Amino acid sequence: MARTQATFVCQSCGTSHTKWSGKCEACGGWNTIAEEGPRLPAGAGARRPTRGRPFALEDLKTEDEAPPRRITGVAEFDRVTGGGLVPGSALLVGGDPGVGKSTLILQALASYAQLGGHAVYISGEEAMAQVRLRAARMGVGEAPVALGSATCVEDILATLDGGKPPGIIAIDSIQTIWTSQLEAAPGTIAQVRTASFDLVRYAKASGAALLLVGHVTKDGQIAGPKAVEHLVDAVLYFEGERGHHFRVMRAVKNRFGPTDEIGVFEMTGRGLAEVSNPSALFLGDRNSISPGAAVFAGLEGTRPLLVEVQALVAAPGYGTPRRAVVGWDSGRLAMILAVLDARAGLGVSAHDVYLNVAGGLKVGEPAADLAAAAALLSSFTGRSLPRDCVFFGEISLSGDVRPAPQAELRLKEAVKLGFTRAIVPAGTNIRVEGLVLEAIKDVGELAGLVGEDTRVSPQHGKMRS
Ligand code: TYD
Ligand code: MG
Repeated sequence: MARTQATFVCQSCGTSHTKWSGKCEACGGWNTIAEEGPRLPAGAGARRPTRGRPFALEDLKTEDEAPPRRITGVAEFDRVTGGGLVPGSALLVGGDPGVGKSTLILQALASYAQLGGHAVYISGEEAMAQVRLRAARMGVGEAPVALGSATCVEDILATLDGGKPPGIIAIDSIQTIWTSQLEAAPGTIAQVRTASFDLVRYAKASGAALLLVGHVTKDGQIAGPKAVEHLVDAVLYFEGERGHHFRVMRAVKNRFGPTDEIGVFEMTGRGLAEVSNPSALFLGDRNSISPGAAVFAGLEGTRPLLVEVQALVAAPGYGTPRRAVVGWDSGRLAMILAVLDARAGLGVSAHDVYLNVAGGLKVGEPAADLAAAAALLSSFTGRSLPRDCVFFGEISLSGDVRPAPQAELRLKEAVKLGFTRAIVPAGTNIRVEGLVLEAIKDVGELAGLVGEDTRVSPQHGKMRS
């Protein structure tokens, strides 16, 4: 007997339940269960015979050339996708509401269309007039983008089937798209998953490159729980801190390229501007230099990036010392503090410690340890670090400073931005014109460089309290 009852699906983890309840037993989420209708039978012949038909297995080797990638002309976007969009692929662009996803996608489509490509933009959120106004404001109102406003996936597919397949098609956003095959409300997991699946299937069959825009839910996932991520070939996140103008796009999954490249944009009154030299943006104004700031010579993908790491070590209050990080991993901060205490005899653990990456960037590279340690030491001792100095190197639990990859690339970027000194891990045997390298073995040597005597003495503790 065919099941026609509705099922109850947790919108957070995707588990089906036979009845509604306030709490999902599978993931522990509260108020996450919603009623979803069954998938209606898709006409006669939908049931497959019980015995399958055999199919031929083929060689891995191919004579076919990979089809050329579709370059949008927005260089920072092309960089993150791994050098353009692959025909027949599907890509998910996620981000918080208002971060600028629609702006970026419209800009990329307009640029692609201006280069002669066939671009289709389907907006499920905004009316045509709104999209046109936005395009005019961004100065791309004349671009030959085919624009539509629709939310039903069957309508979208019928429209696309009628014409020449687009080079790139964007759906903004996947949360607004629904399919008539399901009774569930738009935006539920089943709807988003089914509609995405149908769109991805169209992309694979027609060779169009599909861009799905997805809002990140409040717990940081796209359309609930990874509901779409496994369906698509690449997942890009568009991030930006509130109060900052720049936006960073990074790939978290990419079947056709690296996942460590970032694209950097700045939100302006005329859409997103590409930032081809992000170091200058993240370093900002470094004229006034106070204790606790160190410049990290970092790397994002293939691109060097200098960022300022700021630390504040404050005299402890009562109770547990406070720790706060922005743009940094708190576990890593705890580790560096412990190493500074144990290996450089610092006695910083009892203090309140704040660590911030300037400009709102998130730094995940272990090579940033040395810059963070230098910033912490500098704040702790009250001595400013030299203004023209960069740092990089990973710190191990033993207190050793370990080499980091691509040292030359990092140092060349430092020279380009006017730095003349670099504190680097021992064993970094390269010469860079205009830069004096100081190789250090462990955090003890770093402490020696930053302050003459940072070793904690009984008086030191008293002086600060
Ligand atoms: P939008 O692309 O609509 O965000 P999303 O699609 O991710 O929800 O962008 C929203 C913000 O961008 C909005 O707050 C206004 C700002 N913005 C500009 O500052 N300049 C511009 O030219 C445009 C188009 C938007
Ligand atoms: Mg939008």
